[in-house]
Amino acid sequence: MNPLAQREANAKRAITMLHKWWARRVGCVFRTMILSSLIPAEEWQRLDEEVRRSGIDAWTALYYRQHPKANPLIEKYLKDKVVLDPFMGGGTTIVEALRLGCKVIGVDVNPVAWFIVKKSVEPVDLAALDAAFERLKKEVAPDILRYYRTPCPHGDHEADVMYAFWVKKVQCTNCGRNTRLFSSFRLATKDGEDTVVCPYCYWVGQVGANRQSVVCPDCGREFHPKQGWAGGGRFTCEHCGHVDETVAWVCRTGRAPDYEMIALEYWCPQHGRGYKGVEEFDRELYRQACQEFEREKTNLPLPDFETESPPGYNTQQAIGQGLRHFTDLLNPRQLLGLGRLMQAIREIEDRAVRELMVVTLSDATNANNMLCKYNVAAAKLEPLFGHPVYWPPDQPVENNVWGTKYGRGPFSSYFDKTLRAVEWAQHPKEILTGGWVPMDDGAVTSLAGQPTAVISGASRAWLTARSSEDLSFLASKSVDAVITDLPYYGNVHYGEIADFFYVWLRAALKDEYPEFVAPVFPKEPEIEVNQAQDKDDADYRRSLRQVFQESHRVLKDEGPLVFTFHHEKPQAWGAVLEAVLEAGFNIKAVWTYFSEPQVGVGFSGGGIRFDTIIVCRTRGLDFGELEEMRYIERGKRASEYQVLLPQKRLDWLEHQLERGYDLSPLDRAHYLYALYKANRPLWAEIPRLYTRGLEEVTGALYRITRDRAYELISADIERLKEQGVLAL
Ligand SMILES: C[S@@+](CC[C@H](N)C(=O)[O-])C[C@H]1O[C@@H](n2cnc3c(N)ncnc32)[C@H](O)[C@@H]1O
Ligand SMILES: [Zn+2]
Ligand SMILES: [Zn+2]
Ligand SMILES: [Zn+2]
Repeated sequence: MNPLAQREANAKRAITMLHKWWARRVGCVFRTMILSSLIPAEEWQRLDEEVRRSGIDAWTALYYRQHPKANPLIEKYLKDKVVLDPFMGGGTTIVEALRLGCKVIGVDVNPVAWFIVKKSVEPVDLAALDAAFERLKKEVAPDILRYYRTPCPHGDHEADVMYAFWVKKVQCTNCGRNTRLFSSFRLATKDGEDTVVCPYCYWVGQVGANRQSVVCPDCGREFHPKQGWAGGGRFTCEHCGHVDETVAWVCRTGRAPDYEMIALEYWCPQHGRGYKGVEEFDRELYRQACQEFEREKTNLPLPDFETESPPGYNTQQAIGQGLRHFTDLLNPRQLLGLGRLMQAIREIEDRAVRELMVVTLSDATNANNMLCKYNVAAAKLEPLFGHPVYWPPDQPVENNVWGTKYGRGPFSSYFDKTLRAVEWAQHPKEILTGGWVPMDDGAVTSLAGQPTAVISGASRAWLTARSSEDLSFLASKSVDAVITDLPYYGNVHYGEIADFFYVWLRAALKDEYPEFVAPVFPKEPEIEVNQAQDKDDADYRRSLRQVFQESHRVLKDEGPLVFTFHHEKPQAWGAVLEAVLEAGFNIKAVWTYFSEPQVGVGFSGGGIRFDTIIVCRTRGLDFGELEEMRYIERGKRASEYQVLLPQKRLDWLEHQLERGYDLSPLDRAHYLYALYKANRPLWAEIPRLYTRGLEEVTGALYRITRDRAYELISADIERLKEQGVLAL
């Protein structure tokens, strides 16, 4: 699977492009997790022996459903089995499980995730979707595009604006004059040339790469392309040299910096792409757009202008720059274009088409806001959420909302992604060494109104936006497998960043879906470590354990819980392992695979190359049964212990461990006690007691588990001492 996971990281399934969701997992990993957790190991072995003769292995046969022996196994073990994902995120598990014939229950606390997954699997008429786009193109696009025009520098005609470059502007508190927060005067670098902008007259032109100094051919003044006047949250007044901090400036003045347009990238059908300076024409056009927006804004279905970003770990950067409302993150021209689109989208009659358009528009805001930057080396726009943070740049770049022939991230490109995503959900393809192979296991299904409909077999899928800490909508022992990807401890604050999209989805959906009634996503139930929201390691552990306990309850006997996790911090691993063990699961296996390099971005420490899959099964005995055990111990065997201890008891327990027997907490405590009596080091035995299969774990994980397990076992001992079962 490793080479495949890497290949897929570079050639993502189209379905994963339906709306931004952070750190989406590669489908092949979840497909494999589902196959291997539901098909028994003996069957894999048998199949492997059979298909080796045809030169493939069991995995290839099952994964690509290539061999005649594979489908009967999938039928037998996967068909109609109920798979639960309590943290579905972008829905990778849901899509893959449906494709393999399973029934699914998908839960995510965030309505944005819920709606994305819903739209990923619900049926839609592709022709109708296409027709709706054509109508938008005919009826709305011209109204948007007329605000993205500029005189072509090569002749007496107009060209399309691809991008508008802006720079922040503030009034210096020292000299009272306006100064601009240029971090550099270099806009792009390509083919050994830099495109630079003169800060004095906005002349734009090409100079040799990496020039230290340029004398402007228009105004004759000198500037240093790579130096700029701002950076790292500070700026130097261009007139008096006074140094200030943007956040402090915002604090003092109580307002956000203004913007000034400094350059454009255009596309002309005759003369191609190019950069140019800003002219009065461009400023006037922008002013007109702003005026039109003022006139129309109350009629446009936009996010509520009053809705502020709640204070948070990720939102503080934007708030600190004076961008308090979600609508402050876009300029009026962007709001006008997106608002017009939303207005037309809301009138689409076909519900499935309308909702996919809403998702497309919400997604498109990622590349149409004033937090986007220009990638100087690649000469294209970088959408806001390449990293899972709000980070307002000093030099934002504005996209053409509808889009022209070139350029990254206009609405029309986002529509192409949507179209490809839903096509893929209907007719999936898998990547094989030679390229993509069509598969006939589409993921499309209509959704049940109630989870019981899935359990009873009337329906294939039920999705919900709520916390998985309470799965009371599911009966005990009703689920065949729990397959998921855990929240990343403190690495991605989904709720804070997803609010950016939430407010757009809300603008379209609040009347139809109670999930979108709250002005922003209510974050209390989200499981994460987040100081800004008063959630610490202990909260994370407690909530996760609660979800695992609920998973344990709804799982059938010996049912698998399989999850991926990935973190550079031992505490995070400790919290996860502790939660899973305390909930009554045994860890049966740990696998690692290469994760996509992109996942590392935005995580501290430069990213992790490996992802880990943890396979667990419900244990025969758990803490809930301790009470009962105690009586048995007391009544029947308490006296025997005294006699047996230490050596005989030890021998007996070792024998049980050897045979792979899952020890109860009481057994474990006794075992440790016996070791202690026998003067043997305790820690070396702990992983064996708690997590059979840990031999396969990498060194780091092993050590982490050891320490955590030690704490656990101490808790065991304490508990047993309190209950008077053990007298140490
Ligand atoms: C690592 S992500 C899942 C990503 C997913 N595997 C994908 O490919 O997109 C974890 C998810 O857990 C969700 N989550 C956090 N707390 C939750 C809770 N209490 N109940 C349900 N979901 C929760 C987050 O909203 C987030 O989408
Ligand atoms: Zn000054
Ligand atoms: Zn100049
Ligand atoms: Zn031209």
